[in-house]
Amino acid sequence: MKKNLLMWDQTLFRDIEVFEITYVPEQFDYRDEQIERLAFAVKPALIGGSILNTICRGVPGTGKTTSVKKFFEEVEGAATKIVPIHINCQIDSTEYAVFSRIYTKLTKNRQPPSGTAFKTLMDMLAKYVEKEEVIPLICLDDANYLIYNKEFNNVLYAALRIHEVYQKIAIGVIVVISDPDILLESILDARVASVFRYETVNFEPYSAAEVAGILSQRVAQGLYPNVLTSEQLDYIVDRTMRCGDIRIGLDMIKRAVMYAETDARRAVTQEDLQKAASASQDLHLAGTIKTLSPDELQILEQLVKMTGTQTLLTTGDLRRSMTKDAPKLTRFNEIVEKLDHLRVITVDYANKGSGRKRYVNLRYEKERVSKLLQKKN
Ligand SMILES: Nc1ncnc2c1ncn2[C@@H]1O[C@H](COP(=O)(O)OP(=O)(O)O)[C@@H](O)[C@H]1O
Ligand SMILES: [Mg+2]
Repeated sequence: MKKNLLMWDQTLFRDIEVFEITYVPEQFDYRDEQIERLAFAVKPALIGGSILNTICRGVPGTGKTTSVKKFFEEVEGAATKIVPIHINCQIDSTEYAVFSRIYTKLTKNRQPPSGTAFKTLMDMLAKYVEKEEVIPLICLDDANYLIYNKEFNNVLYAALRIHEVYQKIAIGVIVVISDPDILLESILDARVASVFRYETVNFEPYSAAEVAGILSQRVAQGLYPNVLTSEQLDYIVDRTMRCGDIRIGLDMIKRAVMYAETDARRAVTQEDLQKAASASQDLHLAGTIKTLSPDELQILEQLVKMTGTQTLLTTGDLRRSMTKDAPKLTRFNEIVEKLDHLRVITVDYANKGSGRKRYVNLRYEKERVSKLLQKKN
């Protein structure tokens, strides 16, 4: 028998959970300024005023969700009338879904009866807030999904207007947007823009030193000593910086260590790292594909099918190639725009010629998208 092999019941992970995407770390550095800004915004509510709305902006993996969660923990611990409610707009991406979730979380798990009209739901919500004398502070996390679904203005309007209908009630809003292409001024419609005042809190990408700090802290917590060398960690930091999302680094570590474990080795090899790097690359794409609706998937699938059949593919070609059950033109265009925003495809306008021709392309290799689409089905 080979020496120094891992026994079947041994593991290299001290705590594998620290590499999960939803894990909220105990130690959370580099974001004090942003958390302070959030705290500043709720202060007026403690002395009878209303919460200032904030918009948190920053690309994925810059600690926005964790900052809000950390801040919400503080608020909950401070025993005030403020009740923080975190909404994941990737999951709740319509006006109704958002407020139904708010109602459920606020009432500690009461479900609105099925078929409740939106107006009734808002009445129930307002009555509860009034009776319990609480101040809801809602975080619309990844609100860019509401924007893609054209629900953002409706949600904000409903949240802000509640104060007009029920004078004693006000809702504080933290909007988190992780798509840098979104220009808020052009998104907000007039009725919302006229009442929506907000402060912007920016989450700049982490520097290489910060990424190294965060990852090595996680390694110390989650792995047994000597599983990963410091050179290997440098390599992971480097790969992480290239895509700018710290989640890739965390995912790479987890995968590489799992490969080593499967081989019953006590340490990670360069091979494990390379294998992990290519698997982690697809993390974003796989996550995005998971959130797509059937008609969005249908268009992506068709684009995969058409890719490579002709040199330049226009949106028109794509739509014509679909069977009769293709989405209507407006919806088709909406979906193309959304897939572009989600960085799954690229859309380029033709410079010359007549009309507004748009060329569409997959951003990833056809085979990789195709593989992930099959997994989803
Ligand atoms: N400053 C930090 N310290 C420790 N872990 C962090 C830090 N910033 C981000 N992370 C970790 O990186 C991952 C992504 O962070 P997250 O808050 O979800 O980013 P975002 O919401 O901006 O996409 C999470 O697992 C989180 O725990
Ligand atoms: Mg987030």
